[in-house]
Amino acid sequence: VAILRLGFLRIARISTTLADRVRSAAPLTQGGSKNFWSRALICAMTALVSATSSARDIAVDIPAVTLRDARNQPVALRDELAQPGPVVVQFIFTTCTTICPVLTQLAATAQRELPALRVVSVSIDPDEDTPARLADYAQRHGAGDGWRFLTGDADDIVAVQRAFDAYAGAKMRHLPLSFVRASPGRAWTRLEGAFTAADIVDAARAGDVALGRRLYRDGVLASGDALVARAPGGAVLRGANAACATCHRTSGYGGVEGRAFVPPIDARSLFDAHEPRRVDRFRALYQELLSPEAMTRLRAASARPPYTRATLAVALGDGIDGAGRALEAPMPRYGLDDADHANLAAYLETLSAQPAPGVDDKEIHFATVIAGDVAPARRDAMLAVMRAWLKQRNADVARRIARPPNPAGYEEDLPEANRAWTLDVWTLNGAASTWPAQLETYQRERPAFALLGGLGDGDWRPVHAFCEAQRVPCVFALTDVPASEHGEYSVYLSGGLPLEARTLAAHLVETWHAQRLVEIAPRDAAQRAASAALRAALAGTAVPLPVDVAGGDASTVVVAWGDAAALRELPKRLAAFGAVERVYVSRARAGDAVAAWPAALREKTLLVDRYAPDDALPHAFRARAWLRSHGASGDDEAVRLATYYVMSTVEAALGQLIDRWSRELFVETIEREAELVPNPGPYPALSLGPGQRVAAKRCRVVGFEDGVKVSGR
Ligand code: HEC
Repeated sequence: VAILRLGFLRIARISTTLADRVRSAAPLTQGGSKNFWSRALICAMTALVSATSSARDIAVDIPAVTLRDARNQPVALRDELAQPGPVVVQFIFTTCTTICPVLTQLAATAQRELPALRVVSVSIDPDEDTPARLADYAQRHGAGDGWRFLTGDADDIVAVQRAFDAYAGAKMRHLPLSFVRASPGRAWTRLEGAFTAADIVDAARAGDVALGRRLYRDGVLASGDALVARAPGGAVLRGANAACATCHRTSGYGGVEGRAFVPPIDARSLFDAHEPRRVDRFRALYQELLSPEAMTRLRAASARPPYTRATLAVALGDGIDGAGRALEAPMPRYGLDDADHANLAAYLETLSAQPAPGVDDKEIHFATVIAGDVAPARRDAMLAVMRAWLKQRNADVARRIARPPNPAGYEEDLPEANRAWTLDVWTLNGAASTWPAQLETYQRERPAFALLGGLGDGDWRPVHAFCEAQRVPCVFALTDVPASEHGEYSVYLSGGLPLEARTLAAHLVETWHAQRLVEIAPRDAAQRAASAALRAALAGTAVPLPVDVAGGDASTVVVAWGDAAALRELPKRLAAFGAVERVYVSRARAGDAVAAWPAALREKTLLVDRYAPDDALPHAFRARAWLRSHGASGDDEAVRLATYYVMSTVEAALGQLIDRWSRELFVETIEREAELVPNPGPYPALSLGPGQRVAAKRCRVVGFEDGVKVSGR
């Protein structure tokens, strides 16, 4: 009802304006138009019919026609419209006395507001509108440089109108339209009806979200040049160092960096009216070390007016915030031109504006991926811990919801955060090349907010690629082969076999004395990845690349990446090798196989070990107690402990999202929590930081018998 009423008000206002104009125009009109009143009436009626305004983006294929301007010079329309900068196209005729003068005045007002705006007015009455008449019309309306009046061949003019879908059959039926394009290559905005000069300016300034995103994240301007900013104190920041994401983070939610508080600049925080919520400041106020100035500012935070594009420009250029306060260090100052500012503002208007898929009023939905041929015992170990965790967590949520809120606490702000967790198991079968399609089907059917844990028999790259392409966080897959390319959305628990291979290479270089290096031929994807990483790390060192042939006199050093089943057979195979000096195996993959080897061979065996020594992990006891009391202990304890860590980190991070359902914020929070959550094992020294993607980076080479550290980092 409100909208309808508004529509009527607008129509009433327009019709009186038009009536006034018609009346005032009457004495000025001399001779030229016999049927002035009927024309005026038709024009006014046309305007009335469409008195509410609309704006929509359209694609226009400009015809290759050559028109004539008011000085009778030829103008190739395509070239004219391909010039850089914003442009508005209107269809007019000089003897139209209502719509056309109004349109022309709107364009003039818009051009005064935005001097870079070029105007192209195309006559739809070319028989009447000679260049001389257009020159006269231009002069009457005070049109200066940057405004073209065009006439031409009647067929060409119709072709141009058709291209803009503006051809009404006869000039007397023509509609109040303007076509605005912010820059070449962008869509045209079709403004129709009772639009204003401000609507034209807005459309001409409409930013390009993709270019704004690049400016925000990478510090690259629309021109391709580096973004430049002036830091407080005078230093000049360039490119990625000047990018907003450097401080405000990819999510836009900012956070505490060093001892400074970087405020959120997501769409809601900047452009919606809201009171600052205590719950959003809780962590910064009570759990972080802030400088006294940052703390004072944070305590004093009060509502400021929502930003507009104009006040945002003042904040970025002059460092004055929406409430008139000077922005303090380290917020830099930016000198952006209109187009770059519009791009950035358009991006900020979308930043974290929508809750991520996978979250509804009551639930947060997760999935875990079982990729390929995973041993059932490992799969069961991971799922048992996840299910026990969900059961406990959801019981807690139910209790919290049932309990009356404590007015002194923060709980009144928290019901949003109290959502149950659900978990689907996404099993991938068949060739790895078909996994992306399988993942997309799962995600389409029931989108997951994030993927938790996950097990694979080797090639994790398709899952990694899916997470990056769909922007789904992929948190700590328990894979031996993390993808080697850096992802934004995938974080890994351990560097896996490639990390072991690099550690082994360093150890071999250190201890090498001209033996022969033999590698048992890799059998599966994980072994191949380890082998490739070893070769890459040995290239250019004194250690020759490994061969896989037996025999000869030189003492032999053997590398075997096999799993427990393969390693149980190894002593038999080694009998053919002659003088074996050393055997290297992966502790994580060997399981209990080496324990069953003859003692003489065990003594020659070194383990490449990315696990932490048991006694280095006091929290293992706590985790074991939890697993037992929740019916989740059993075989494959390493998988269980790792899953326990995954779930604790996810819970700690989600608790801080409150109701900001941003996947980017989730990943950023995991980066910080990884080091703070108690580490139950099996990996040592788990920690991430901004942009870091592998939590356990340490690995060592130890004797099988004594577990004494031989080398490593
Ligand atoms: C070097 C770190 C840094 C960079 C880079 C940075 N900012 Fe800021 N920004 C800050 C800090 C710190 C504040 C808080 C200053 C204060 O409150 O006095 C801030 C405040 C703001 C505010 C005011 C928020 C409010 O609630 O009033 C806006 C808007 C803003 N930044 C936008 C941006 C944009 C857009 C960019 C990129 C073009 C950017 N910032 C780049 C650190 C940074």
